[in-house]
Amino acid sequence: MKTTSEIAEVRQQISNWRKQGLTVAFVPTMGNLHAGHIALINAAQKNADRIVASIFVNPMQFGESEDIDNYPRTMANDQEKLKQAGTNLLFTPSPSTIYPKGLSQQSYIEVPSVSQGYCSQSRPGHFRGVATVVCKLFNIVQPDVACFGLKDYQQLQVIKTMVEDLSMPISIIPVETVREQNGLALSSRNSYLSDIDKEIAPALSINIRWLAEQIKTSSDYINLAKQAEEQMNKAGLKTDYIHICQAKTLQPAQKKDTELVILAAAHCGKARLIDNLLISLE
Ligand code: PAJ
Repeated sequence: MKTTSEIAEVRQQISNWRKQGLTVAFVPTMGNLHAGHIALINAAQKNADRIVASIFVNPMQFGESEDIDNYPRTMANDQEKLKQAGTNLLFTPSPSTIYPKGLSQQSYIEVPSVSQGYCSQSRPGHFRGVATVVCKLFNIVQPDVACFGLKDYQQLQVIKTMVEDLSMPISIIPVETVREQNGLALSSRNSYLSDIDKEIAPALSINIRWLAEQIKTSSDYINLAKQAEEQMNKAGLKTDYIHICQAKTLQPAQKKDTELVILAAAHCGKARLIDNLLISLE
């Protein structure tokens, strides 16, 4: 596996592969890799001839109150894991490579409707930062396919919508959430959990699954979600939100909708955890 922080080197490598007729899959990450990220690399391998991964802790998607400097950085370990998983090229740009003019560049990507509410309520500007950096990375790598985790469901919808709206010739491949045995979705942020927090944290996925069971027989979505929120808080979480939504638009689910997603976020100790579950009522 080759590692580079230079855009020109990435372009050169991709161009060499293209000349050989090879297809390219891309997996963007912020590092501190775990089995969830590796599942994306495995999906990439099934869908293209060569795999490019990136590690870039993107300052544009962090709010002023969020501590980007403390985001876990484990480059040597990450490199080893990516190499073992069969990654061909790792791109590790510096902030000044991605943002030569700083964060005050004039052009941004906004995907307003799906970006609204849920995670952006407590993280204003977050999805603008995500969409903008993913667009930049897409322009640098120009992959045929790109893999994103279903765990960050709103992010996945933002990226899918951007690609559709802007006619980007890239197939977006959603990858199932990888979980601990107790149901907790793997996340770099789980490293912030204390031993006690670790016992409380599974209440997030437990209550999402509880809610999924309830909505098979009742469409009183608002009250059911309220009940799930109370149960989560009773278990020791501090619920940020839990909602039953229409799976594609993320608008609040109506009785007639059949493709639903439960979106939820909660604070547990120092960590803010997110999770979701897709439900088909047909
Ligand atoms: P990061 O949090 O590092 O996640 C990188 C990718 O891994 C995302 O597509 C995310 O959904 C996926 N992922 C994380 N945990 C997962 C799990 N338990 N199971 C399956 N997939 C999982 O998401 C970002 O970085 C950034 O916002 C990024 C897209 C790189 C833009 O900066």
